[in-house]
Amino acid sequence: MSPTNTSPFASQTVHVPLSERSYDISIGTGNLAEVGRWTASLRTVTHAVLISDSNVAEHYLENVNESLTAERIRVTKLVVPAGEPSKSVATSQELWEKALADRVDRKSIVVALGGGVIGDLAGFIAATMTRGLDFFQIPTTLLAQVDSSVGGKVGINLPAAKNIVGCFWQPKGVLIDTAVLETLPRREYLSGLAEVVKYGVILDPEFFEYLEANVQPILDRDSTVLQKIVARSCELKAQVVAEDERETTGLRAILNYGHTYCHALETVAGYGEYLHGEAVSVGMLCASRLGEKLGVFDPALTERQHNLLTALGLPVEVPRIDEDAILSAMQRDKKVEHGKLRFIVPHCIGKVVLTPDVPADVAMAAWTDGYAG
Ligand code: NAD
Ligand code: GLY
Repeated sequence: MSPTNTSPFASQTVHVPLSERSYDISIGTGNLAEVGRWTASLRTVTHAVLISDSNVAEHYLENVNESLTAERIRVTKLVVPAGEPSKSVATSQELWEKALADRVDRKSIVVALGGGVIGDLAGFIAATMTRGLDFFQIPTTLLAQVDSSVGGKVGINLPAAKNIVGCFWQPKGVLIDTAVLETLPRREYLSGLAEVVKYGVILDPEFFEYLEANVQPILDRDSTVLQKIVARSCELKAQVVAEDERETTGLRAILNYGHTYCHALETVAGYGEYLHGEAVSVGMLCASRLGEKLGVFDPALTERQHNLLTALGLPVEVPRIDEDAILSAMQRDKKVEHGKLRFIVPHCIGKVVLTPDVPADVAMAAWTDGYAG
């Protein structure tokens, strides 16, 4: 799964080995204009349903449309409002009906051009339309490039629960152009960096050190450094997904390091108050303090994470919000089994363990110890 550079569409390729569902992630700089040739190299395509959001479409939709059209691919362009509310039943119905009205058939493909919202939504449309269409991902946020476009989790929200309707539907290919990150708002970019740090903590101490040593070029979105961090993150995610595609062995759950606290924070603070990566940043430090309290993690390593996340402009302090609400939000976490809290707890940089039976008071102490002052 080491990156190779044999593709004409990318400077690095990461393979995701999933037997007949295997695919490549093609990573380059300035390769967006190759989308048409890339798609056509993977299979015969005559019709593409191109799904994007209003912000991304403004920058990149025509470029992608022209590239597909140049390969004689008929394109149905469907643009939804930017933002999480588009991951809904209502938007899905609109997309199904518009695709049908423009003569979608079982040989059509779906192309997702956007961040995690578009990847999850378009993947869900691909999985459900005519009982399943081939799906191609072109992620345009850092979060989507390092996390959500890889691994096949697709879905939408219901008003009462996020990501509750969906399935596993692997893409046929992922094309990453790191140059599109230039237009990404700074706060969104920094938020994506939290997931990059996460990979270092859960799986790769050398990568963590690389991030510590390259803070300024990372903040400057230096293209060489971006290639490296996106490719390494994709490789690490690919390894985990290859071993536990459907999250049945517990391995894939390590990707949720910091996320139990993160989801509780997102819910209780109110969706939109924290971007996902911002809440991941706060959550990873809570999970580290939890590791300290359980006697398995060195406080100096919590400090190292704190310093790196701070240098990357991410929030690290726990806000003083309703503690009872935080605990009950954590008790609704998907990792809870038989009513017991389970957390991904770090043991060192590069190793985390899914830990059952964590007492609620200890979990909450790791939370409240993160208050400022
Ligand atoms: P997003 O898709 O909402 O994108 C963030 C914002 O950036 C949006 O306003 C978007 O229009 C804008 N944008 C995107 N690319 C841009 C670009 N290149 N230039 C300018 N603006 C751009 O948010 P996100 O953080 O990418 O994704 C969050 C979603 O991902 C959530 O719904 C979450 O549930 C999902 N997610 C899924 C997985 C998975 O495995 N499927 C993993 C993590 C997160
Ligand atoms: N983002 C977590 C996963 O893909 O499993």
